[in-house]
Amino acid sequence: EEQNQQLKERILQLKKEKNAIILAHYYQRDEIQEVADFRGDSFLLAQKAATTDAEVIVFCGVHFMGESAKILAPNKTVVIPDERAGCPMADMVNVDGLRALKKQHPNAKVVAYINTSAEVKAETDICCTSSNAIKVIESVDSEEIIWVPDKNLGDYVSKFTDKKMIIWEGYCNTHDMLTVKDVEEMRAKYPNAEFVVHPECRPEVVKLADFVGSTTAIIQYCKESDKQEFIVGTEDGTGYQLRKDSPDKTFHFATKYLVCPNMKVNNLKKVAKCLETLSPQIYVPPHVADQARASLERMLQVK
Ligand code: 13P
Ligand code: SF4
Repeated sequence: EEQNQQLKERILQLKKEKNAIILAHYYQRDEIQEVADFRGDSFLLAQKAATTDAEVIVFCGVHFMGESAKILAPNKTVVIPDERAGCPMADMVNVDGLRALKKQHPNAKVVAYINTSAEVKAETDICCTSSNAIKVIESVDSEEIIWVPDKNLGDYVSKFTDKKMIIWEGYCNTHDMLTVKDVEEMRAKYPNAEFVVHPECRPEVVKLADFVGSTTAIIQYCKESDKQEFIVGTEDGTGYQLRKDSPDKTFHFATKYLVCPNMKVNNLKKVAKCLETLSPQIYVPPHVADQARASLERMLQVK
């Protein structure tokens, strides 16, 4: 605890020296969210990266998030605490596979979840996150959509559109672990609680929910709800903001397995170190970045 306090002070000082901003995803460890200048879901963090005045962005999340920040803010230095913090779902789609699918469906437009590599984004028409996926799909001028990589989110959004969705077979190892049985057990144990869920969970689990939404949407819903008790179907780091916003409410995570190990690779020590050394830095080859940026900027423009 004392060591954490020292690290936090060091981080605050380095942040000033380097004119840096710390962005943290809601799935980061509590101590990282505590030192962050801004916490958010993937959409809000991308938006923040695109508009900040700071010279250095310390992105506490997983690799594709830092990469998206660099693409949107190419003149800034973007550092991440640990290069090994990846997203297994993002790794489930690659350029060759996507090109082959595009060949099979020449009239389709490609909508990519932001959980993809820069190279894959460069092959797509527009990006989305779980907070704007439906709006993004409706904004695309094609009746046929190739959707990568999350099959669970793809299934969820397909219920809100008449467009033909060609859905990739990826999934989030963490959210996909939650089962109907887990939820039924929790419902039996906490009969007064509402069940809120992230659409990266399986369709049969999402069907059981009182509320479905992105990380930010879940946090906002719980804050504004009259209910006192919630069963939460998303990553456990979300508890930090949930409890901060609603200290009198009770939050039960739907299983103890709702932990993304990649998100937890980052810690305060690594945050201090990357600020001090300004490394590891995100680099995206310019021709890839330019094409990926077009996709990300189209997303940011969808109203
Ligand atoms: P959001 O932050 O957009 O809710 O996405 C969840 C997620 O799994 C990020 O990796
Ligand atoms: Fe990827 Fe899932 Fe972890 Fe998000 S929670 S970074 S989608 S593995």
